[in-house]
Amino acid sequence: MTAIEPLVPVAEIDMAQFPWAISTDRYVCPDIAARERETIWMKCWQIAGREDELPNPGDWKRHDILDQSFVIVRGKDGKLRGFVNACRHRGNILCDAAKGHTPKFTCPYHLWTYDLDGGLFAVARPDLVGPIDKAEHKLLEVPVDTAFGFVFINPDPQAGPLADFLGPQVVERLNAYKLGEMTPVGMDVREELDCNWKVVVDAFSEGYHIIGVHPELLKVIDLQAGSARHGMFGDHGCAVSPFEVKDAANASLEEQVQAIRDLPSTFPTVAEVLPLFESMIAQRRDAAGTLVLGEGETVRTILQQATRQTLTAKGLDVSTLSDDQMSDNQGWFLFPNFFMTIRAGEATTIMAWPHPSGDPGKCIWHVTAYMWLPEAFRSQYRAQPVVVSERGTYPYFLALQQDYDQMPRQQAGLRNKGLTHLSLIREELSVARFHRAWNRWMGA
Ligand code: FES
Ligand SMILES: [Fe+2]
Repeated sequence: MTAIEPLVPVAEIDMAQFPWAISTDRYVCPDIAARERETIWMKCWQIAGREDELPNPGDWKRHDILDQSFVIVRGKDGKLRGFVNACRHRGNILCDAAKGHTPKFTCPYHLWTYDLDGGLFAVARPDLVGPIDKAEHKLLEVPVDTAFGFVFINPDPQAGPLADFLGPQVVERLNAYKLGEMTPVGMDVREELDCNWKVVVDAFSEGYHIIGVHPELLKVIDLQAGSARHGMFGDHGCAVSPFEVKDAANASLEEQVQAIRDLPSTFPTVAEVLPLFESMIAQRRDAAGTLVLGEGETVRTILQQATRQTLTAKGLDVSTLSDDQMSDNQGWFLFPNFFMTIRAGEATTIMAWPHPSGDPGKCIWHVTAYMWLPEAFRSQYRAQPVVVSERGTYPYFLALQQDYDQMPRQQAGLRNKGLTHLSLIREELSVARFHRAWNRWMGA
């Protein structure tokens, strides 16, 4: 077993190992987009959905990446497998819809049928076909595996194991959150955006833009130079800033309590913790009503206790998570395109893919809000997936709407030929880490 490495402050990280000047052509150049397709998208493990989308043998879904199409199916043995979405006869697309359920795949062109494990089951009218070696005509398999409740696919049949791609630090840390037991609640939405997929990754990899784009978050995210802690796990990583009432050192206790009460407008899931938080605060008032905290206690630690007790009462085992993980959102990134904020009991994930047309100025994003719920409630509360067809019609929550509006503005600036590089600053270390990984995969 590998020892869990602590997250470290920026001051302890060697900045010289990261690129800080980033060429703008990677966001706009069609040739670079075409090269990304080969070196990243056709080689990398990538998330293709959630395991609970395919609970039963015969459940399948398509995963399209650019112009390439794959089918993921749960076999009779319960195992998930991935196949190139093409018939081995004359190449017709096998699965046209986005998902479905079937005992066997039948190609609609000449009705060849395939088992769920990809084997050629039968050809129609064998008298017309003549001798054929069925073993030579199996569906073409690609690696599929699972982690934290997600289904991962790799379009490269020669790919190494997912566990090696993620690394033990990532697996162990994310498993502690019981992410595999979380359910999409409230939001599960896909939409086309007018920006490169890396504009999305960059935007969610730094908190510096809070000052310009999300000023209302400054109440609870106290941006102090060097307060963030980072985990660097190869091409992946995480960063966390304390979720703390602004300037807690100078705010009165009552002001801090009020700031926590105001949280649900920006962090709705805090609402379920508030009743216990309020009663814990009430217990700490003296006869005159003055709030008196115990030794070492702060309003932040009371919120953490209330969160731990509320989640434990709900049935979630949070014993492997620290007090900081009760309150602070860790911002995770898994190369190439998965971003997630996660704290005990909840997570929001954002993924961005290149646009199927290959146009580097467009992408598809997929945003999902997850919550841990007792098993009995999971299917009842599962959010229905939404695909937005008309721009601007989906009601994102405020902070997300602000990012949605911002990202195309960056793309509009990046298009200018006169701008050859963008300049990252120290607070954007996670952006630099992403581009270091991108450079490596691209051989740049
Ligand atoms: S192409 Fe599929 S059966 Fe002919
Ligand atoms: Fe943002």
